[in-house]
Amino acid sequence: MIRLKSEQEIKLLKQGGKILAEVLEVVKKNVKPGITTRELDKIAEDLILTKGGQPSFKNYGDKNNPYPATLCTSLNEEIVHGVPRDYILKEGDILGLDIGMRYPKDSGLYTDMAVTVPVGSISASAKNLIKVTKKALDVWLKNIKAGEDLYQLSKKVQDYIESNGYSVIRDLVGHGVGHAVHEDPQIPNYYIPGATLILKEGMVLALEPMVSSGDFRIKTMPDGWTAVTIDGSLTAHFEHSVVVTKRGCDVLTK
Ligand code: MF3
Ligand code: CO
Repeated sequence: MIRLKSEQEIKLLKQGGKILAEVLEVVKKNVKPGITTRELDKIAEDLILTKGGQPSFKNYGDKNNPYPATLCTSLNEEIVHGVPRDYILKEGDILGLDIGMRYPKDSGLYTDMAVTVPVGSISASAKNLIKVTKKALDVWLKNIKAGEDLYQLSKKVQDYIESNGYSVIRDLVGHGVGHAVHEDPQIPNYYIPGATLILKEGMVLALEPMVSSGDFRIKTMPDGWTAVTIDGSLTAHFEHSVVVTKRGCDVLTK
């Protein structure tokens, strides 16, 4: 079931999204060789709490293995859900930073966003992967609009990614957001024959292309969270939460 958001909710989601973008900006500035992903997580968590929000990923999921952090820090072949740890970032790494927040505190309102950033100077091929993945998110943002078929847009995004020689992760998808970390609909970045969903004003969606420079197949690491490509190829991920409007969309997380 897809729940539309009211004007009042959208106003608050916009405030939360703006704050979340500010938090992620500070985290990004701290990404450099020598810092650990655990330190980045601490920076993110402290800032969210200071700004009157709550980390929404922390303790999310299965009670037997809830997500343990505020931030997802996904390195190189890690696509998403990389768990912050004592790994020291080194020149040439690429790092996905994914963050979600409930705002205001104790409200039931959620936004979600992600970027992939270089650590120091990186290879030309890694740069290109990041550029194409970011542009794949732009393909979503430029095409989404009330009245459009969501899954035709998935196809546009897939075509863009594959025309650049990369592959689309299949087992992980974007999602509805706003009243929960994840809600309906599922938003694949590839075409599913026969799938159709006409977008409506007031839908709030997390669009998140996940791109592999090699095989699209993935596996989950023994920590139960970190998703990696099975062939170890480099990956990138960008995400925005948006509200669908008559004319297009408003990006909440900017
Ligand atoms: N943006 C990611 C997603 O939509 C982050 C979720 S992390 C989790 O899957 F811990 F909350 F699962
Ligand atoms: Co998401």
